[in-house]
Amino acid sequence: MDELLVDRGPERSVVQAAVDRARAGHGALVLVEGAPGSGISALLRAGVAAAQAGGLAVLHTRAVVADRSVRHALVARLLSDRLAGVAHDERARLLAGEAAAAGPLLERGVHAGARTAHGVAVLIGNLSRSAPLAVAIDDLQWADAHSLRSLDVLANELAQLPIVVLLGRRRGEPVAAPAALHPLRERAEVLSLTALSAAGAATVVRAALPGASTAACDAFAQASGGNPFVLHELLRAAATAPGAYDLADALVAGDLKETLALAEQLDQYGEKPGRLIFPLVRRLREVHQAASLLGAGLPDAKVAEALRGPPWASKKVIAKAKKADVATLERAICVFADLEVELRGGGDVRVDEDAAFSVALARAAG
Ligand SMILES: Nc1ncnc2c1ncn2[C@@H]1O[C@H](COP(=O)(O)OP(=O)(O)OP(=O)(O)O)[C@@H](O)[C@H]1O
Ligand SMILES: [Mg+2]
Repeated sequence: MDELLVDRGPERSVVQAAVDRARAGHGALVLVEGAPGSGISALLRAGVAAAQAGGLAVLHTRAVVADRSVRHALVARLLSDRLAGVAHDERARLLAGEAAAAGPLLERGVHAGARTAHGVAVLIGNLSRSAPLAVAIDDLQWADAHSLRSLDVLANELAQLPIVVLLGRRRGEPVAAPAALHPLRERAEVLSLTALSAAGAATVVRAALPGASTAACDAFAQASGGNPFVLHELLRAAATAPGAYDLADALVAGDLKETLALAEQLDQYGEKPGRLIFPLVRRLREVHQAASLLGAGLPDAKVAEALRGPPWASKKVIAKAKKADVATLERAICVFADLEVELRGGGDVRVDEDAAFSVALARAAG
């Protein structure tokens, strides 16, 4: 399924136009910039998808922190991956002439000579002879200076090549090789990602929580500041913790019907059972601890202290513990511990996660 991208219509049009130009033989360079989590990688992925849909071949990689100080590390990886399975003849054709200067990169990793940057650019050009090409590189803030120079040499030739280069860079992160990035940036069409609008954020919220109220959507939009990464994290937390807690409470109450109804609701949010086990068991343990301490004769205030949560939360846990049956709680905790071992691949039989989870719930509640 396509990744949901809201508020990025204009940026996607720019990328699409660049892809179209490359198909027509006149390449283009687009640099996507934004704050951490603003959706840089997601937009690059959409660009790659658009390129593939347009019949372009794709070279896709990202810089990593370790690249910063290793000459040509980034382009060496990009090209070695592409040439890994290529037949001998074809490889010789690709590395003919000036491209030969890039050969040592592929043989010995990152060693390189004076003509390497040029050789890399020629080699990438040669790769576009059989089909138009998209080169997508993310996290350029960590790219080494030599790789950036190769890309700059390539960028200088793009107008005559069927190649679209899509680059991504986090803003606000120190750039490993600013002097090498600068000229490349000057050549690029720069797209600056902004925060999501309230309406855009609401679309994302409702995709995760269908039927969320306008007030709830606004609260998520505000709390995330319109940052897509933060918004997704908040939604994940909201979908996991409270849902799991309700489920745990139904289990504590020994209410099988309610337990299964809640499990079904969570399923509609696309919740993976594996992720629920941790908050669920944490809740069960809390109530179990409170019930054990109460059983040992401790007063509520001491039990609340032992729970170490905020007072209102401890109060709720204690109220549940007073009604709970310690043996039932213990059984439920054991059932989920078993399930967790099973889901982590304890046996060689592949477990159907959903089915195993439903069975565990039924056993724990009933
Ligand atoms: N426009 C958007 N609409 C909806 N969801 C989005 C949008 N952009 C990004 N996301 C989602 O937000 C999350 C973070 O996006 P992404 O990883 O692309 O951010 P990033 O800017 O590359 O972050 P980083 O700084 O970690 O590299 C992902 O789950 C992604 O699917
Ligand atoms: Mg990213």
